[in-house]
Formats: sequence, structure tokens, C-alpha cells
Amino acid sequence: MIVITGATGALNGATVEHLLERVPAERIGVSVRDVAKAQHFAERGVRVRQGSYEDPAALRNSFAGAEKVLLVSSNDPHADGASLHRAGIEAAVAAGAQRILYTSHQNSRMDTPFPPGPEHAATERILAESGVAWTALRNGFYAHSLGWLLGNWRETGVISAPADGPVSWTHRADVAEAAAVILAGDRAFDGPVTLTARRAVTFDDVAEIASRVSGREVKRVVADDEQWIAGESEEMARLKLTMFQAARQGHFAETSPVLAELLGREPNDITL
Ligand SMILES: NC(=O)c1ccc[n+]([C@@H]2O[C@H](COP(=O)([O-])OP(=O)(O)OC[C@H]3O[C@@H](n4cnc5c(N)ncnc54)[C@H](OP(=O)(O)O)[C@@H]3O)[C@@H](O)[C@H]2O)c1
Repeated sequence: MIVITGATGALNGATVEHLLERVPAERIGVSVRDVAKAQHFAERGVRVRQGSYEDPAALRNSFAGAEKVLLVSSNDPHADGASLHRAGIEAAVAAGAQRILYTSHQNSRMDTPFPPGPEHAATERILAESGVAWTALRNGFYAHSLGWLLGNWRETGVISAPADGPVSWTHRADVAEAAAVILAGDRAFDGPVTLTARRAVTFDDVAEIASRVSGREVKRVVADDEQWIAGESEEMARLKLTMFQAARQGHFAETSPVLAELLGREPNDITL
């Protein structure tokens, strides 16, 4: 059996959908915080059990009989993500899983200004020490995040944002599908596997694309970090700024052909 956590979320919910096209429903289980939200999977024959990283006993029960477990990364910026993921890894080991997969992030490492990076890196270390085969799905930066970083360029004709660097913006739907291909297949991916779009672009490139799609010139203006933060909600703006700071240092520039190989087609390009 393949058990998937976070199946009531966007990424792993889409992975379950793709998995249902590849393996019989009775071979799929989901471990979810709220079983009512997974009713649509239960109706199609998927085993639905309650599980949360805060409740190790429930987690173990939801992982029972799993050969492979896919752990979602926490979406709570205020939680100690690595501790939550450790609970997931320990429960998967205790349940006898033969491979643990985890939704990591491209270039996850301790020395990055982008806060999720160290959390993913710490989790990958716990996986490496778990004694069980593991795969870290190092997903590219979600392409739809561009929407909340670009500002109101459609009205102003200007993309005003801090200095940036190349980012291989990647569609969440594509990495969800690739995870299902890996889960259903025989090809063993050991350790980190980077899943990104084919190319990395800067905001200069994005301004060119925006000009093309809108039919008028869209200018890229480099804003001062602190001035850009002013006027936005402080906590969110600071988090967004770390993305620009990490991009400047090249943390999101990596591209990999593996996503296209797994999909059997080119990954989707950014859309504005
Ligand atoms: N690559 C990127 O650019 C990028 C961007 C944003 C986030 N991410 C990461 O990718 C993950 C998946 O993305 P997404 O778009 O699917 O996010 P999402 O829709 O917010 O889904 C997150 C899922 O994690 C589950 N979850 C959160 N805390 C949990 C806990 N303590 N125990 C068990 N399950 C828990 C949630 O359960 P409920 O359904 O019960 O809420 C939800 O199903 C995110 O959680 C985040 O770590 C990546």
C-alpha cells in the first residue's frame, strides 16, 4: 500500500488523483487531519485514516501496512517543522515502511536566507538517519507564487520588486503528477531528486514576458529592500524579501531534466 499525507492539501491531493489513474484504489491510503475533507477519496475506494504530525499513535495507525509513505512538508511557518516531520518519519519507520518520500524544496540547505530551506535540510538529514530508503522530492518554487510577488503591474505597467536572481518557477500540478509517477513506478530515487521547470528566469525576463502577453511595455524597476517592505504587512513582506535575497544568491537557479522525464512531456512554463 502507498500512504499519502497532506492529501486534503493542494499538492498531495493532486498526487492522489494522479496515483488513482495508475494503481488500484485499494492500494492507496491517505493520512489526513480531517477525514471529512477526504470523503471524495473514500468514495472511490481509497483507505482514509486520521493522522497528524502532532499525534504519533494516530499517524502509525494511518500508516499501517504501507510499503511507501509520502510525507507532506508542514505549511505552518510558526511551527517547528523539522520536529513535526521527525514524528512523521518515526511513525513511518515504526509502521514498517520500506521507503519514505518527502515534499522538500529545490536546493534545500542550512545556509540560505529563505526560512523553509533549513527546515527541509534538517528533515532530509533525519530521513538519511532513519535507516529506511528515502526520497526527497525537491520541488521547484511554485510558479503561481509569482502572482503575489509581481505587484499590480497590469495597472501600472511596472514590476517594482527587490533585486532578484534566476528562479526555475515550477507548476505545482506538474510536481504533483511527477510524485505519482515515482510512487507508482519501479525506478528508485534515493536521496534528493530535484523537480523543476527546464529554465530559470529573472524578473527582467518576466517583464519581457509580461510585455508580450499584455501588448504594452512593462518595465522592471529594482526597489530598495526596506522601501519595498514599507506599506506591506511586515511579517509577510519580510518572508517575501527572503525569497528575493535567496534568489539573488542563486538558491533557486538550478534546473533539472528529471521532471520532464517523469512527465514524458515538457513541464508547463510560467503563465502571467
Ligand atoms: N515549492 C514551493 O514553492 C512551495 C510553496 C509553498 C509551500 N510549499 C510546501 O509544500 C507543501 C505542500 O504544498 P500545498 O500547496 O499542498 O500546501 P497546502 O495546500 O497548504 O497543503 C498542506 C497540507 O499539509 C497538511 N498538514 C499541515 N500541517 C500538518 C500536520 N501537522 N500534520 C499533518 N498534516 C499537516 C495540511 O492538512 P489540512 O488539509 O488538514 O490543512 C494540508 O493537507 C506545503 O505544506 C509547504 O511545506 C512549497
